[in-house]
Amino acid sequence: MTKFVWQEEFSLHIKEIDDQHKQWVGLIGRLHDAITHRQVEKDLEKIFDQVSEHTALHFATEEKYFKLFGYDGADKHIAAHQGFTKKISDLQKQMHANNKFQISLELAAMLEVWVTNHVLVMDKKYEKCFHEHGLR
Ligand SMILES: [Fe+2]
Ligand SMILES: [Fe+2]
Repeated sequence: MTKFVWQEEFSLHIKEIDDQHKQWVGLIGRLHDAITHRQVEKDLEKIFDQVSEHTALHFATEEKYFKLFGYDGADKHIAAHQGFTKKISDLQKQMHANNKFQISLELAAMLEVWVTNHVLVMDKKYEKCFHEHGLR
């Protein structure tokens, strides 16, 4: 399993947002560790709760600024957030004692695709607007 690491190209040059995105990368790292060390039985529920909590917090942060700055891509972006939130909660509901290893792999893959695609494509689109409103 290749370790997923933060890359400079993910940066939006906004500290609060970059830090929150880095926290996702950190949670992916925790999942990888749990998988590699066969700790998912013990750790998955906790990691899952942290992923859900952090995801909700991060989306709320972005959406707060969309509103504040009158960002014109907000509707589409918020719909994407809602879609991902549902995917996470659907996966969480599928978790039970016997499938934690499989669910861990799925969650890690889902988060990697999300951080790569959503951050690099959709989040990048608001970078200019946020900068213009003085956010760094
Ligand atoms: Fe984001
Ligand atoms: Fe976003």
